[in-house]
Amino acid sequence: MSLDHVDGFVERAQTQAVAMRRHVLSLPAEQLRGRPWDVIAAIEAFANDQGLAMLFRRPKIDVVRRVLAALRPRPKVVVEFGTFVGTSAIAWGAILRELNGSDATDIHVYGLELEPKMAEIATDMIRLAGLEDIVSVVVGPGSESLQNLVAEGKVRPGGLDMVFIDHWEKYYVPDLQLCEKLKVFHKGSIAVADNTDIPGAPAYLEYVKKGGDLENGTVRYESRTLYPEAADGSRPSAVEVSTVVEV
Ligand SMILES: C[S@@+](CC[C@H](N)C(=O)[O-])C[C@H]1O[C@@H](n2cnc3c(N)ncnc32)[C@H](O)[C@@H]1O
Repeated sequence: MSLDHVDGFVERAQTQAVAMRRHVLSLPAEQLRGRPWDVIAAIEAFANDQGLAMLFRRPKIDVVRRVLAALRPRPKVVVEFGTFVGTSAIAWGAILRELNGSDATDIHVYGLELEPKMAEIATDMIRLAGLEDIVSVVVGPGSESLQNLVAEGKVRPGGLDMVFIDHWEKYYVPDLQLCEKLKVFHKGSIAVADNTDIPGAPAYLEYVKKGGDLENGTVRYESRTLYPEAADGSRPSAVEVSTVVEV
């Protein structure tokens, strides 16, 4: 997603996010507490009625869910660049729990979010969804946060099953390359990037479609573009899924 250069875009999104939190937390708690998919539905319903830009919505989540479900070994650790209000982080937490069983202890989602206010809202939504034990939001530039997670041993070498890239386009390639440099991928890890066609991430697409940095890199990708379909027949933007085939 790359509309950050548009005047006032981030400020407007933040105002909308604050209103969304007020609305969702005013709904009957028993309908949402501990129910990740209902929390996501409530956020999406607010977005449809009142406007809330930037969500990674359900048709796209379902596309990635199918990819995650096919991975062996089962995915356990996800890092996300760009968490905003937490929709996708909640989805990854719910999916990891569904795939690994609700008593799995070694699953974790790290949502990396630049803006403290958005991180705070995401944390509230994650708590409402009952996923606070397995989904953490880390505030700051994602590149710094990932380096800290590796230094702290929370994300281990070869220990990352999916990186989800959904922040600003100018960081897509450098942050994917940081994952390579930190050696967190294993063979079969996936990098999933949103909005690679619209607004577009041409440099990222070129990089993964050619397989990565073939001259200097150690990681090689095979990449495919997936086109989610919405229930109303509309065509959301594409999702790029790149599988690490050599590491
Ligand atoms: C498209 S939104 C993410 C949407 C989110 N994945 C969801 O499904 O609701 C992009 C987010 O990336 C954050 N962001 C931008 N640059 C970042 C960076 N360098 N590190 C971490 N987060 C960043 C923005 O503050 C914004 O909240």
